[in-house]
Amino acid sequence: MTEFKWDPDTYRALMAEEIPDYTRLQTEVAAAAAAGHPTSILDLGIGSGLTAQRVLEALPEAELFGVDASAEMLAAAEATLDSERTELRQGRIEDPLPQGPFDLVMSTLTVHHLDGPGKADLFARIAAALRPGGRFVLGDLVVPVDPADVVTPIDWVEDTPSSLDEQLAWLAEAVLTPQVHWQHRDLAVVVAEKD
Ligand SMILES: C[S@@+](CC[C@H](N)C(=O)[O-])C[C@H]1O[C@@H](n2cnc3c(N)ncnc32)[C@H](O)[C@@H]1O
Repeated sequence: MTEFKWDPDTYRALMAEEIPDYTRLQTEVAAAAAAGHPTSILDLGIGSGLTAQRVLEALPEAELFGVDASAEMLAAAEATLDSERTELRQGRIEDPLPQGPFDLVMSTLTVHHLDGPGKADLFARIAAALRPGGRFVLGDLVVPVDPADVVTPIDWVEDTPSSLDEQLAWLAEAVLTPQVHWQHRDLAVVVAEKD
């Protein structure tokens, strides 16, 4: 099966159609990210840089390393973000992460593309890339407890979200301390701290 091709020119319209609370999700990710006053940030699945831009605006001292599988989305991120504060790399989040250590690892609407074991494995590698006292901010689709709370269409091929409880358990297994920062219907923002 051909992989979904992300297009930065239609991305905002796609988000507006499929994830009506996308901008609220970005606001919550940016607030959770800024709360730790990080200066070194890794964004996994940075896409066209729209959420990273919000985070960098909130943190004028911070520098950000962004990873994404899509060359097209990265080209848009390059055009959007301050090149003095940003480094971008094409790559998959299943592959080894940049070494760090980072004050903050963030990921918005990307981790749900991994299956359960893939998420658990990623969370362990994120924990290793964080400095002690650092935090992981995950903003993503979740499988809600009440099926009536499903808003975003899921194909169960490229989109494989997990429940919030499963993800909290995998974060704890990665020896991070997770807390739900915000949840609304099938969206959640989790902050997971490393001791
Ligand atoms: C919904 S967009 C989110 C972009 C951005 N984080 C935001 O907040 O708007 C998902 C992004 O994840 C990237 N992506 C999906 N699976 C990936 C993977 N396994 N490794 C790296 N990037 C991936 C896609 O290329 C796309 O840019």
